[in-house]
Amino acid sequence: MENLTYTTESQRQQHYIEEMKLWVNEQSRKMGRPLTCKIVTFGCQMNAKDSEKLLGILEQMGYVETEDETADFVLFNTCTVRENANLKVYGHLGHLKKIKQKNPNMLIGLCGCMMQEKLVVKKIQESYRFVDIIFGTHNIFKLAEIMKRRVDSDSMIVDIWEDTDQIVEDLPSERKFSFKSGVNIMYGCNNFCSYCIVPYVRGRERSRNPKDIIREIEKLAAEGVVEVMLLGQNVNSYGKGLEEPMTFAQLLREIEKIEGIERIRFMTPHPKDLSDELIDVLAQSKKVCNHVHLPVQSGSSRILKKMNRHYTKEQYLALVEKIRAKVPDVSFTTDIIVGFPGETEEDFLETVDVVKKVNYDSCYTFIYSKRTGTPAAAMEDQVPEDVIKDRFQRLLKVVGEASKDNVDRYVGRTMDVLVETPNDHDETMVTGRLTNNVLVHFKGSQDLIGTIVPVVLKEAKGFYYIGEMAQEA
Ligand code: 5AD
Ligand code: SF4
Repeated sequence: MENLTYTTESQRQQHYIEEMKLWVNEQSRKMGRPLTCKIVTFGCQMNAKDSEKLLGILEQMGYVETEDETADFVLFNTCTVRENANLKVYGHLGHLKKIKQKNPNMLIGLCGCMMQEKLVVKKIQESYRFVDIIFGTHNIFKLAEIMKRRVDSDSMIVDIWEDTDQIVEDLPSERKFSFKSGVNIMYGCNNFCSYCIVPYVRGRERSRNPKDIIREIEKLAAEGVVEVMLLGQNVNSYGKGLEEPMTFAQLLREIEKIEGIERIRFMTPHPKDLSDELIDVLAQSKKVCNHVHLPVQSGSSRILKKMNRHYTKEQYLALVEKIRAKVPDVSFTTDIIVGFPGETEEDFLETVDVVKKVNYDSCYTFIYSKRTGTPAAAMEDQVPEDVIKDRFQRLLKVVGEASKDNVDRYVGRTMDVLVETPNDHDETMVTGRLTNNVLVHFKGSQDLIGTIVPVVLKEAKGFYYIGEMAQEA
């Protein structure tokens, strides 16, 4: 190793992938079958994207993906945004212990946000000794190197970085869909919303070089991808720290020029700094989808201040109006937290009011979860559980009614649908999405998957449509 020189980190990692390939080969020769792997992903789209990269590395080593948690290598890509996500991981581990007793060659790995918490790692080192490797969010590109260290030794390998300014390009990645893909444009978050653990586990904001992003998307387009989802904790901050700073709106304009890409989505823009320039791009672009996921979190200006969100209810509503005025047929979705410390009935009613006024297509509603280490965890007047549950149920009802009204308004129209999957219930049907992200089911052959077709929206069913493929003129 020491004698070799590598020009880039990805070349260094390629070397470990080759070494692991020899090991995987040898193992599978002994066992008389290929080695299998399974990645279990919790949490958000960032984690889903990381899992695609991890699977890309494993497949290059010679592992074959399986759906089964009895695989030879099982990796949990964990989430720690809410406490029940943590609890689920411990539950799975208890189950895996028994499986590993039957297959001692099995390897178990843990990575992702939960591993960036010192107390979690300590607990696993003490109580889950059968885990083989643990790494964090900043060094997923090292998977092969970490696995090599594990197979060369006989002890648990723990490799966690506190933070990083490094972005490793050119690693393998295995896409889940042939026609759409997530693309990271930045990593980390600097916002420190008072309830949120993400800035502590994903580190400071850093943007990828636009050239690297464009190159990746051009390659995806050449492989048949028609839709990209640009990912960042707050995409509005894109480009700030670059040598040649650029705005998110400018990046979108560059991506729009790429031939073959037909739809561009992004998440998440923070309501505090969504620019007029971005609204103009939304209004003018044929490719950027007319859907904005705009997390409101609470409708009460008092609670928003305690959440450190940097906008008021009125500013949020004004922003929604400004976007609506310029972007025809735009659809909004949001995230809402119920039961933030100190939330009163009046505060909650302000949230209900925002839901009614904005008329979201859908809302992701969360019960507040106390995350140790965040400022909100130390706040007094945490809301009792029964009060939160009651508010949560009431909110769900309002949310359901609002999204139903919204879906109703396009019935009868013909709109473009990107066909994504066979229909779950009827094999003569397929399922796809409108540019505003709403689902449509319609009769059609599986060959349509990955293509964009015009569909007449016949009937609205809550938050999806039943359609009929339009006869092309
Ligand atoms: N409790 C509940 N929900 C949370 N979220 C983030 N942190 C917490 C928490 N401590 C929600 C926010 C965010 C979404 C991804 O998760 O609504 O937008
Ligand atoms: Fe968490 Fe706020 Fe950053 Fe989103 S913007 S990841 S909610 S701290």
